[in-house]
Amino acid sequence: MQPPDHRSASHKPGSLIPGRAVFPHRDLTGIDGLQPHEITFLLDEAEQWIEVNRSRAKSERPLDGLTLINAFFENSTRTLLSFEIAGKRMGADVVNMHAAQSSVKKGETLIDTAVTLNAMRADMLVIRHSSSGAVKLIASKVDCPVLNAGDGWHEHPTQALLDALTIRRRRGSVAGQRVVICGDLMHSRVARSNILALTALAAEVRVVAPSTLMPAAIERMGVTPFTDFDAALDGADVVMMLRLQNERMDGGFIPSTREFHLRYGLNSERLRRAKPDALVMHPGPMNRGVEISSAVADHPERSAITEQVEMGVAVRMACLDVLTRRARGVEGWA
Ligand code: NCD
Repeated sequence: MQPPDHRSASHKPGSLIPGRAVFPHRDLTGIDGLQPHEITFLLDEAEQWIEVNRSRAKSERPLDGLTLINAFFENSTRTLLSFEIAGKRMGADVVNMHAAQSSVKKGETLIDTAVTLNAMRADMLVIRHSSSGAVKLIASKVDCPVLNAGDGWHEHPTQALLDALTIRRRRGSVAGQRVVICGDLMHSRVARSNILALTALAAEVRVVAPSTLMPAAIERMGVTPFTDFDAALDGADVVMMLRLQNERMDGGFIPSTREFHLRYGLNSERLRRAKPDALVMHPGPMNRGVEISSAVADHPERSAITEQVEMGVAVRMACLDVLTRRARGVEGWA
């Protein structure tokens, strides 16, 4: 069976046509600043790569001869790997730089690192950094497109795009979906980027956390905050769970992980409060038994967690393709 075609049915004047359009931004540093039709355009672009990735002969190589540097100043498994796979599948030469082996450990400043990367004449830079704003700073010092693979507590735009794509494919649309995001909202760049993307695409977003992990005035982002997970789950189409970002906590935000699981963990019993066909999502890495039980995480119909990983490669291929079109001389405004 052919998967449903979720691309926008019609392209209004001023919208972007998949396959041809040059994206009107050089970098992807966040979802903030993107128009809803630009987000939809990136999702439409990603749809094409899903089929390419599923076929055995992955022959399209639009990035042949270009160099992609993945500069990761913070640990990563799936994000780094999927950017590497995305770049290689499209024919780019991919180089990975890990902070542990770089001059950063020797005290080099971020700006010196940026100037060095720039002098190597990379065609694309993918950067992950533990400081919010570091990726934008590097972007301001280099001449090629920069993609944010997560900066501190700030943003993780490709994660939000892959999540939106997963929801759109599984639920038919993002608009009108009741999405419940639960966990460590305070320290989560995934939550921030998802809130920006999902509200831009007209989902109804509910956020759930203990009050110690709930950012002040979060309702200004267009979401409804809850401290009672059970109440928030009522009628949910999608439940997105977040990891406790222990590496970003310097104090006691929760009484214990056991206590946290009892009130904010997603298990089979609690999931019954959501719609019967509700989708369960998690960006990974998961802490099983803390924010999510294994029965829910591994549920064959309800869990979309491995699909999120698959969509991650397609979304990153789309972003690399789109952001290098200007340099490759691919013409065509809608
Ligand atoms: C997330 C991250 O690094 O922000 N992981 C990811 O990219 N898939 C979430 C997390 O670390 O909990």
